[in-house]
Amino acid sequence: MMWRGIIERYREHLPAIDKSAVISLQEGNTPLVRADNLRFFLKTNLEIFLKVEGLNPTGSFKDRGMTVAVSRAAEKGQKAIICASTGNTSASAAAYAARANIKCIALIPKGAIALGKLAQALIHSARILAIDGNFDDALRLTKEIVAKYPITLVNSLNPDRIEGQKTGAFEIVDELGGAPDYQFIPVGNAGNIVAYWKGYKEYHQAGKAKKLPRMMGFQAAGAAPIVRGEVIENPETVATAIRIGNPANWQEAEAARDESQGIISAVSDDEILDAYQMLAALEGIFVEPASAAGVAGMIKLCRQGYFKKAARVVCILTGHGLKDPERAVKVTEEPKIVPANIGDVLKAANIEG
Ligand code: F0G
Repeated sequence: MMWRGIIERYREHLPAIDKSAVISLQEGNTPLVRADNLRFFLKTNLEIFLKVEGLNPTGSFKDRGMTVAVSRAAEKGQKAIICASTGNTSASAAAYAARANIKCIALIPKGAIALGKLAQALIHSARILAIDGNFDDALRLTKEIVAKYPITLVNSLNPDRIEGQKTGAFEIVDELGGAPDYQFIPVGNAGNIVAYWKGYKEYHQAGKAKKLPRMMGFQAAGAAPIVRGEVIENPETVATAIRIGNPANWQEAEAARDESQGIISAVSDDEILDAYQMLAALEGIFVEPASAAGVAGMIKLCRQGYFKKAARVVCILTGHGLKDPERAVKVTEEPKIVPANIGDVLKAANIEG
């Protein structure tokens, strides 16, 4: 049967939306890929799966929540949506708003979002405002605007976003026949970790999963307010998607951590970039740096001997590598320039000579 997106697939678990009002790009149904090369490389007895959310229509997990949030806004007759974003939310909001024929306004931190994401938001005709400040400033301004004007906020403070995003957990359980033992996930504004936990709990209550996973969240060390227990005024990390100092879903994320007996910890930029390159080189999966934070956390814990026995692990890879091509070029070697003759080419390719 044709895949018609997460609202049609998981309708009974989501807020009511009339069939005719659904705004969808057929998001969801993303691959859950076994990572045996990574497993052998790490010499671990973990069974590792990667949920490749970068294969959603706009290249990130945000589409799951956006289809619900935009469908509901459009159904209510709203004419505009607004978000603050480190890039992916704005790209997704812009695409779904275009499809719903409503206006999209996005506040982004000036000069601090990856080029691919900016290109997406612009080409879908969103009104992009580059704020002379960081994401936290942009979110504060956005909240002020929606308090005064009839515009729908589509950040993860909007419960419809969390509702849609929780379907990632449903897909994992449907595919594996149960929940994993551990789920690793990057944490920025902290909506996704909350959404996954909600999804696992709901499936558990519905009898579709016998157990619940431990939620293992990872922030970038320079942007780790939850780990440090304080707002970070000037968050810094190469993982621009999670460069956030005051996450909107802070308390809820701590609750997900504590209820699941999981952790929220930090990984350095070097650890993030190592995991980023490892996923590409060992598994053929190109993610954006922020998406590698969860994997970096798993690798770190493996090396510390954290896992005492075999376990099943899922890492959520939140966004596609093509969002931020400049980073990939930066961390690798430039292509070798070779004269256009067969001798030099054979030599340079290590085929002959
Ligand atoms: N990974 C990617 C690729 C992201 O874009 C984000 C968040 C996260 C992880 C963290 O998810 O915020 O739910 O904890 N991006 C938001 C945005 C902030 O504006 O695109 P979270």
